[in-house]
Amino acid sequence: MISVGITAKNALSAFDTSAYSTIFCLVDENTEKHCLPVFKENFKGDFQIICIASGEENKTFETCTEIWRQLLSNGANRESLLINLGGGVICDTGGFVAGNFKRGISFVNIPTTLLAMVDAAIGGKTGVNVDSLKNQIGSFEFPEVVYVMPEFLNTLTEQELKQGYAEILKHALIADFDLWQSLKSENVDFATDENLLAKSIRIKTSIVEEDPEEKEKRKLLNFGHTIGHAIESWSQNNSEAALSHGEAVSIGIIAESFLSYRKSNISFDELKEICDTVYLYFNPVYLAEDKLGEIIELMQYDKKNKNDEINFTLLKNIGIGIIDQTASKELILESLEFYKTFPDRNYIAQK
Ligand SMILES: NC(=O)c1ccc[n+]([C@@H]2O[C@H](COP(=O)([O-])OP(=O)(O)OC[C@H]3O[C@@H](n4cnc5c(N)ncnc54)[C@H](O)[C@@H]3O)[C@@H](O)[C@H]2O)c1
Ligand SMILES: [Zn+2]
Repeated sequence: MISVGITAKNALSAFDTSAYSTIFCLVDENTEKHCLPVFKENFKGDFQIICIASGEENKTFETCTEIWRQLLSNGANRESLLINLGGGVICDTGGFVAGNFKRGISFVNIPTTLLAMVDAAIGGKTGVNVDSLKNQIGSFEFPEVVYVMPEFLNTLTEQELKQGYAEILKHALIADFDLWQSLKSENVDFATDENLLAKSIRIKTSIVEEDPEEKEKRKLLNFGHTIGHAIESWSQNNSEAALSHGEAVSIGIIAESFLSYRKSNISFDELKEICDTVYLYFNPVYLAEDKLGEIIELMQYDKKNKNDEINFTLLKNIGIGIIDQTASKELILESLEFYKTFPDRNYIAQK
């Protein structure tokens, strides 16, 4: 169950702790500072704090072992509860820790970043990285409840908020025309408009409910991510141009919307509208001409590809995604060229 806003706050205050022998709250040093005070104000039960160092580099099996040690030395047993108070790193690590401690204990997610609220805390995927390989060890584990409290967003930087913007834009494009209309406004504030947050969350949860283990429908959530992931990996190897996941996905959304346009799914006006809206949230990124081939090469490794074509989720309309689409390397190159021409994008030849 997921509750948002004032409902979440009330539900957290009324949380029944009687079923649990001991309660632990997992934080990192930032959520300990910015979020734990609000949690303490609202949560009535006793709990012990486990604090790990923040950052993607700590989303490891070693960190899990450290948390398991702390749980064991502080009396945790099968009736214990773990509350994950943090961003995607805390929710991914904590969910995996809970799911595997004594073959599984209950856990609660309280996401504190926009990305975790609309994505990481609510899909049931948990796990950790191995060296530079992301999310290689993990399992599907579902929290007892998720409390989404938008006030936590007030202490996030714009850069951190962007990670969430990309997923919210994606959710609207694949499944919710009305949400898309709202996102087109210049002054959207997710910390104060919990209705928008709730809509975005509902899109992901309804897709996950239909296909929890990513057999078919969940592929909708890959929109913007085939090209986005390749750009993200490419940029990590070029440290002066390193892009966050959200920035890379913003490029992926535009490029994959272009593919949707060229596959005759969306109109040129819709493509332009998508570009304009994405640029309300993101700045354009310069992609060097001689690097585009390298980016396409990275997509070749995607396990979802068949023959020489690359697999995509594209748009049928704004608000309707379609899975299992393909595009040739030439067309993908054209989509990156299209991205590069922004903001002077009127050059694009009409079909
Ligand atoms: N499980 C999934 O389905 C799923 C989906 C998307 C992303 N993810 C994972 O999520 C992770 C990224 O999540 P993220 O962007 O939340 O990263 P994060 O957890 O590293 O948080 C980003 C930074 O913000 C800090 N922070 C968190 N909440 C704060 C607050 N309210 N105020 C101030 N600082 C705060 C954190 O300490 C950290 O330094 C990645 O590891 C990614 O793989 C998982
Ligand atoms: Zn993503």
